[in-house]
Amino acid sequence: MGWVNSRRDLGSLIFIDLRDREGITQIVFDPQIEKVSHEHAHILRNEWVVAVKGTVSRRLEGQENASLPTGDIEVKVTELKILNRTETPPFQVDGAVDASESLRLKYRYLELRRPEAFNTLRNRHLIASCIRKYLNGNGFIEVETPFLTKSTPEGARDYLVPSRVSKGLFYALPQSPQLFKQLLMIAGFDRYYQIVRCFRDEDLRADRQPEFTQVDLEMAFVDEDQVMGIFEDMMSVTFSEILGYQIALPIKRLEYREAMDRFGTDRPDTRFGMELKDITDIAAGSDFRMFKGVVEDGGVVKAITIKGGAPAFSRKGLDELGEMAAGCGAKGLAWIKLTDNGWQSSLNKFFGDGDKAAVNEKLDAEPGDLILIVAHNRKIVNESLGVFRVEVAKRMDLINTDGYDFVWITRFPLLEYNEEAKRLEAVHHPFTAPVEEDLPILEDYPEKVRARSYDLVLNGAEIGGGSVRIHDLAIQQKMFSILGILPEEAQLKFGFLLEALKYGAPPHGGMALGFDRLVAIMTGVSSIREVIAFPKTTSATCPLTNAPSSVDNAQLKELGLQLVGREQHTLFDK
Ligand code: AMO
Repeated sequence: MGWVNSRRDLGSLIFIDLRDREGITQIVFDPQIEKVSHEHAHILRNEWVVAVKGTVSRRLEGQENASLPTGDIEVKVTELKILNRTETPPFQVDGAVDASESLRLKYRYLELRRPEAFNTLRNRHLIASCIRKYLNGNGFIEVETPFLTKSTPEGARDYLVPSRVSKGLFYALPQSPQLFKQLLMIAGFDRYYQIVRCFRDEDLRADRQPEFTQVDLEMAFVDEDQVMGIFEDMMSVTFSEILGYQIALPIKRLEYREAMDRFGTDRPDTRFGMELKDITDIAAGSDFRMFKGVVEDGGVVKAITIKGGAPAFSRKGLDELGEMAAGCGAKGLAWIKLTDNGWQSSLNKFFGDGDKAAVNEKLDAEPGDLILIVAHNRKIVNESLGVFRVEVAKRMDLINTDGYDFVWITRFPLLEYNEEAKRLEAVHHPFTAPVEEDLPILEDYPEKVRARSYDLVLNGAEIGGGSVRIHDLAIQQKMFSILGILPEEAQLKFGFLLEALKYGAPPHGGMALGFDRLVAIMTGVSSIREVIAFPKTTSATCPLTNAPSSVDNAQLKELGLQLVGREQHTLFDK
């Protein structure tokens, strides 16, 4: 039983490619074998639902199809039953990839009819099963936590749900189960996990959805090494079981500061070199005004060397990179092509021979290489060179896409100054513990304090993050005060946590894995939308159900809500 994928009507013989979730099988209607079904087979159309009975036979010699797993056989039909007919589908099911995204999502069930799509979701299921089995076997218990709850700050906006019973009040959908899992540790559960949906209203990209899934876990009486150890082991078992791939353990670790210095990002792709090098000292001594100015203002000059890159980048290619630099906030991109006769660069006349040699040596550059230089404040320099590094590696095909490259990034800063909001913000979340030896400077130099946090990066993508938490009430209160949260506000928002911290909170820590991202990488697809059965578009809409949609006035009234101005979408006045 299955769907008609295609039909070839040769008059005497009719061939159907019959599709089900496993793939395609060739069905033959031959009047010599059975007349009635052969007659009916003339009217079959793509995507009709049929049942056939028949004999599985070897195909005639030379008629095999090596590209199909069932390509050596066919089913010779003795009975046909048409189970359902269909209107002409909006796109060919096996050509779904060519349809526009909104059409594919509107008819997502047709796209999911492709065995490839089914396979991706089956792999998702297998990965989840493997992770569950691992955690169940290691003393973790799965506990469900509320969806109708209070805001859990993870850096995004909340999705709010109005309360009918308590008019004017709202639940927030959780950005993560963070506070509940901490409460479970205070309750003495010791090892908790949950494969759980999280909700975040943020700008969407290929690796971000408004609702996504985490493998969320928390452990009591542990330090960061134990949490990271469990994760490494879980990843290792999962990759070995699902992909037959052995992860090299222990997974390498980089402190945040070093990752930023060497790769310009906290999610470095370490499958290739091309690391960032600092040439501030040499640039400060050159005659190039712009470099000198940047250094005087406390900025830095950093560069990457693209081995053999000089011929690969025309002026147009370099201009494109220059535009990318501008997109990162840099004022420009300087470049040097190294030739047998020295530098080919607009910087040529500003650097003496000694400085040129020093730059070449520092950057390990030889004739044929291309050097890209950015000068600005450290943040912008790192960010733009970090972006170039990956872009150039992609263009020059330098990334080995066969393997899986894991790296832990540890000891992020605890806090970061938000220029727009003009206040300090938690880099991970406000419940993350500071590194003990940095505690004495928490008040005076909060931005220098390191966090007991860690992110797991796979092939340059952040697939998980976590931390050891604050379990001391006084430190948690101090943290809120440093974040500019007044005691009354802290009480209003997190009073229940502060209260719980009074009653015997054990030391605890945990982590959450971005499950959709992990599955996307393990199944080799480029967007997490492909590993989610019913995803949203980049504008957070669902073309299938038309969500979000308007509601009638009666419903609004019941909730004590009224829409204003242009936001008024209400269609039905009841
Ligand atoms: P964090 O906010 O780092 O940590 O989230 C954990 C992981 O979830 C994934 N992720 C997303 N995936 C898809 N779409 C999104 N919008 C999205 N946002 C995040 C990322 C990320 O690494 N409570 C903490 C964890 C902890 O401290 O235990 C938390 O949620 O892969």
